Amino acid sequence: MRGDDRMKKDVLLETAKLLLAEQPNELAILSNASAFINDTIDNLNWAGFYLWDGKQLTVGPFQGKVACSTIALGKGVCGEAALKKQTLVIDDVLSHSNHIACDANSRSEIVVPIFIKGRLYGVLDVDAPVLNRFDQDLVVFFEEFVQLLVKVIDK
Ligand code: SME
Repeated sequence: MRGDDRMKKDVLLETAKLLLAEQPNELAILSNASAFINDTIDNLNWAGFYLWDGKQLTVGPFQGKVACSTIALGKGVCGEAALKKQTLVIDDVLSHSNHIACDANSRSEIVVPIFIKGRLYGVLDVDAPVLNRFDQDLVVFFEEFVQLLVKVIDK
């Protein structure tokens, strides 16, 4: 996260809370959440969600180029993060063999799995057109953002 991004982190989370908290519709929450990330964090080329339907991950609301529709558990960075139940940060997607290239411009990626009441709900996937975009501050930001989403959806 760049210096100005870091200073904005708490403000961004507070703004996202105000934007999303009163909304009961999950599609509206996830749509605005992806737009919010795309609008407020610079140097990204894809931001959105893959949602678990019990069998596979299916693309949900996002900002960016057309993406693959479904991803099997364990496949790609999204499926791997969901299977391992942990955030994955890929500094150079071309050197990560288990990466699915949806947008040829992507160079680095973060995937944060989303669990609600212990059950897989989906993943937040964010791509950047530059190497090493996601530093520790951004990892914390996206993990806190996902925790906010879990609270808003699970109310
Ligand atoms: N790169 C992801 C696929 C989704 S696109 O980035 C939007 C992956 O490896 O799972």
